[in-house]
Amino acid sequence: MNAALRAVVKGAAGRPGLRVTGFLDGFAGVLDDAARPLGFDDVSGILDAGGTILGTSNRHDPFRVPAGPDAEPRDRSDAILATLSRREIDALIVVGGDGTLRIADRLHEKGVPVVGVPKTIDNDVAETDLSVGYDSARALATDAVDRLHSTAASHHRIMVVEVMGRHAGWIALDAGLAGGGDVILIPEIAWSFEAVARGIRERTDRGRRFSIVVVAEGAPSPSGRTVVREIVAAPDPVRLGGIGAVVAQGLGAMLPFETRWVVLGHTQRGGAPTAFDRILATRFGVAALEAAVDRAWGSMVALRGDRVERVPIAAAVARPKRVDPAGDRVAAARAVRTIFGDE
Ligand code: F6P
Repeated sequence: MNAALRAVVKGAAGRPGLRVTGFLDGFAGVLDDAARPLGFDDVSGILDAGGTILGTSNRHDPFRVPAGPDAEPRDRSDAILATLSRREIDALIVVGGDGTLRIADRLHEKGVPVVGVPKTIDNDVAETDLSVGYDSARALATDAVDRLHSTAASHHRIMVVEVMGRHAGWIALDAGLAGGGDVILIPEIAWSFEAVARGIRERTDRGRRFSIVVVAEGAPSPSGRTVVREIVAAPDPVRLGGIGAVVAQGLGAMLPFETRWVVLGHTQRGGAPTAFDRILATRFGVAALEAAVDRAWGSMVALRGDRVERVPIAAAVARPKRVDPAGDRVAAARAVRTIFGDE
């Protein structure tokens, strides 16, 4: 997010008539008019810092603002238009994933001059090949898979690593591919314990005395249930987590191996972004600024091949971008004998 913000601010700094205001804590800052002017110096030195110097609003939805324990949430989206008009702001650039972009789409319908930048480690925003943040999360998850190999091999264990990915298994699939995970379990492919155990027994027959399982947090258990860690009173109430333990305990009961599990959780959302993400965010930030100058309201910048293009936000949020079980990525993983637990 910082790299994208820096690109918008530095890109605008050299252009006469352009002025950038940074709202604090995402949509909450627009609603409550908490903002600060942003100039060249404000964004110097933030390229390699993950997160955002502006803060985010933890999935704050201006169309459903909490109004107390017993009251229905209130639609305060008019306040966004009011803030923009009071400050004479001509364009609102929002950076975020499906939730943020869905709100941006509704704001666009309401007449808010908005442009979107896709940013989510889940990589599940449609119409763009990649979203900012995904490559960094994938790199961290790959490193974890690499590290688990040596301890798994030495101790002859099955190590299960649970990664993020609510609706889509991109992190699990790519970290599994890049790290040589033996089993990959993702929301897009239904799996069974029997099939995973069979695959691991075949590995044992080939002389392998350990296995690494990469599982997406949103991969349902074989009974079809998504494993939920907790449900809280918040705009986005469902916190996933726990499928790693389910998988480890299930396999441990079926196979003559000790099992352990790790949950990477929010380590995937922090730290320094990869070079790829810094570059993508810079390109997206500059392209979003251009879209705003062109008054291309309701558009999102998107990576298509190696080009940055504009697509309607409405199309990007119409459905999540999910792994294609029949695509070449999964086929390549199967070709190198990765077990998906469906055969
Ligand atoms: O939406 C991205 C994501 O990283 C999901 O994979 C994960 O389930 C969720 O965010 C965690 O959200 P929070 O930080 O609000 O708990």
